[in-house]
Amino acid sequence: MERTLSIIKPDGVQKSLVGQVISVFENAGIRIAALKMRRLSRSEAEGFYYVHKDRPFFGELVEFMISGAVVIMVLEGQNVISRNREIMGATDPKEAAPGTIRARWADTKQNNIVHGSDSPETAKFEIGYFFSSIEIC
Ligand code: CMP
Repeated sequence: MERTLSIIKPDGVQKSLVGQVISVFENAGIRIAALKMRRLSRSEAEGFYYVHKDRPFFGELVEFMISGAVVIMVLEGQNVISRNREIMGATDPKEAAPGTIRARWADTKQNNIVHGSDSPETAKFEIGYFFSSIEIC
């Protein structure tokens, strides 16, 4: 059993896709182990994406992530880190496989509806960034 962090980004919330995205996970047999809705502060978004701090898109990414509420979840299941990445599709919706969340609903590389941890180490950091152990069911 593995855990990963998923975020429905401000564009997903704005487009009223929260229920549909959660259904995609649940229909794939993935369990929602924790969930909260938040508007991130600038420092929270910067800290979350600190690995990208030297990338040219960092400033815009942070602005986007604080532009509205997000839904932050811990997903649980077998191989859920890689399965979630398959379900989300490629970062760039133009390259995302048909039927994936990003192919269906994302507009751009930045406004791409969902975030998912990319490795066990990242998942551990990202889950701990937003959730304490007693918040995970
Ligand atoms: P995410 O999976 O949340 O991880 C980092 C985010 O940075 C990514 O999704 C995109 O939203 C954003 N991102 C990655 N590459 C680019 C890019 N070339 N231009 C703009 N945003 C990007």
